[in-house]
Amino acid sequence: KMPVIIDCDPGHDDVGAIMMAIASGKFDIRGITCVPGNGLLDYLPDNMLKVFDRLGITDIPVLRGIAKPFRGPCRPAVSVHGRTGLDGPVFRPTQKAPLDENVCDFIYRTACSCDAPMTLIALGPLTNVAAALLAHPDLKHKLARIALMGGSAASGNVDPASEFNFWHDPDAAHIVFQAGVPILMCGLDVTWKAVLTLEEVEQLRALGTTGGTLMAEMFDYYKMYRTSEGLGTVLPHDSVPVAWLIDSTIVKTRPYFVEIDVFGQRTRGCSVTHVTGPGSDRQACPPNTDVAYDCDRRRFVQLVFSAARYFA
Ligand code: BDR
Ligand code: CA
Repeated sequence: KMPVIIDCDPGHDDVGAIMMAIASGKFDIRGITCVPGNGLLDYLPDNMLKVFDRLGITDIPVLRGIAKPFRGPCRPAVSVHGRTGLDGPVFRPTQKAPLDENVCDFIYRTACSCDAPMTLIALGPLTNVAAALLAHPDLKHKLARIALMGGSAASGNVDPASEFNFWHDPDAAHIVFQAGVPILMCGLDVTWKAVLTLEEVEQLRALGTTGGTLMAEMFDYYKMYRTSEGLGTVLPHDSVPVAWLIDSTIVKTRPYFVEIDVFGQRTRGCSVTHVTGPGSDRQACPPNTDVAYDCDRRRFVQLVFSAARYFA
């Protein structure tokens, strides 16, 4: 099994991605580390632990991460994910607590303990990942890859050119893209194609499984901002890098040199992708990122349904 840590801001689509990862049986999930993004950090480990209680998961540690981006305040995505980052489903209170360890040390210690290089799956702002790379310069040699949801080669969802995760902590994204670790970037270019229809949400509910019911409850809330814009689809963004790790033929990628605009006025956190321009000279600027641009939606949706069935 592939050893992984999942760093995330759970989060409706984050939870869906974690369910997909567990259900696939392909990963040795060493821990879930939380980062502020969809909600403030005070809510997120609790969200994750409550989800695990509901799904009967007892063997995956959950950690708090770093409470703020490198620069400036948290700007949680309340309009999309609600006050807690996971509004909608009603959970029982949990008796469990996050593991009490510094997140950078946990990531490094865990990577060192794996027999094979570890994959970091990053589904939120990159604050924890960047801080761990800085705190432990040797970490990059212990990583097979960082498979992330974030960025966009084309247009954004917060600003015209900026995707939320990179926009929330552009400095962290910049550090990660300069680190020299192979990156899979599943940005909006691909995640806007990996949609669930509202009919499919109803089919998830109709399964009657614990997994299908939880997904339907989450997507009922999460779809609201899309339906208010007249769009009849749900975007399980964070499941896309997980789907690629499960079966790389589901998601198409091309290698590019990508750099992050840290100080842009209208391009804060933009993932500048050198499709053309100076970085497209592969001799001078070797690609640092596999940029996902398309997916086989039918097979992607099958993975979502497999996860919904797996949690009986
Ligand atoms: C990203 O931001 C969050 O809303 C989602 O969880 C996803 O990681 C999409 O821009
Ligand atoms: Ca996320």
